[in-house]
Amino acid sequence: MKAIILSGGKGTRLRPLTHTGAKQLVPVANKPILWYGIEAIVEAGITEIGIIISPETGEEVKAKTGDGSRFGASITYIRQDQPAGLAHAVKVAQPFLGQSPFVMYLGDNLVQSELTLFLEHFHSNNLDALTLLCPVENPSAFGVAEVDEKGRLLRLVEKPKVPPSNLALVGVYIFSNAIHNAIAAIQPSARGELEITDAIQTLIDQQKAVEARQIRGWWLDTGKKDDLLEANRVILDNCCLHPALNGEIDANSKIIGRVQVGTGTKVINSTIRGPVVIGDNCHIENCFVGPYTSIADDVTMIETDLEHSVLLQGAKVEGIHHRVVDSLIGQRAQLKEAPKRPKALRFMIGDDCQIELA
Ligand code: DAU
Repeated sequence: MKAIILSGGKGTRLRPLTHTGAKQLVPVANKPILWYGIEAIVEAGITEIGIIISPETGEEVKAKTGDGSRFGASITYIRQDQPAGLAHAVKVAQPFLGQSPFVMYLGDNLVQSELTLFLEHFHSNNLDALTLLCPVENPSAFGVAEVDEKGRLLRLVEKPKVPPSNLALVGVYIFSNAIHNAIAAIQPSARGELEITDAIQTLIDQQKAVEARQIRGWWLDTGKKDDLLEANRVILDNCCLHPALNGEIDANSKIIGRVQVGTGTKVINSTIRGPVVIGDNCHIENCFVGPYTSIADDVTMIETDLEHSVLLQGAKVEGIHHRVVDSLIGQRAQLKEAPKRPKALRFMIGDDCQIELA
């Protein structure tokens, strides 16, 4: 059994962060989203992993993730020249996959891992495709499954205007080698992509063994800012956070609840109320850091109250006399009190940014 993780694509919905980087590397609880997928795959016993990368962000994904040894896996990077669709990515990965059955994992999805159970079901029933479903409130944003009263999969449609059910396709699929012929038989969709949904529909039409299972745990598609903040909240609540105070915390600071502080970080005269994770070499002074916040390495925070937010590496937030909530602040971004008169708001805002003033 092999696995591929799709880490190419355009990342338009997480702009501006994805103007300069891969959306799959945006951290949730200070760990790149992509790595959760790698860990879930390795945990299910699969160690031969192909990662689909784009020409724009591929080098960054490679440099950060490496050859797989840190995960106990062997990673092969597979370049997809154009984001021509999920099924196109499988086509590009065919030389890596050979005739092996495989897991396909979308690199921007976070799924509470039950992969081992689904793999057992796939193998013991000799399936050609096993898709995972999850009820959602906005099915039109996803691939949607129509199932019969016994839960059998009848039809799949990609982002339908009128969804046949509320069951979205989760971004984790298991396939036999039959998927390659199905992909060879499909045409690009109206949005110009080779859709994996159409390839699975072809398998259904060919009466191949295709099944769908509803997942029981959480599933988070990290496409937009609020999805990412929600993913951060769920991950900090459920796993990943091993309380540890490795930095220097002065006597005037208070640490409450589950908090992780990295090495070289200084916390001065501040209150941190977990769950919170703070990376290495940060400086936090005269601040309140509230629940569900992740602060990456090298961040400076002075005279600021912040909660339910994600700060990326090297961000600086100083002297903000409002509580900052529900925010995603990019690498090296600076948010600070105006140093000179007239007291006024002054901005230098990159493309596609969103700012909400009280
Ligand atoms: O998140 C689940 C949904 O993922 C499913 O419900 C849909 O059926 C499925 O089509 C997919 O929809 P998205 O619109 O969310 O897919 P997105 O374009 O965001 O791509 C998903 C991942 O695959 C992302 O990490 C980027 C990567 N990708 C995407 C394309 C189109 C590639 O590596 N290559 C590509 O050509």
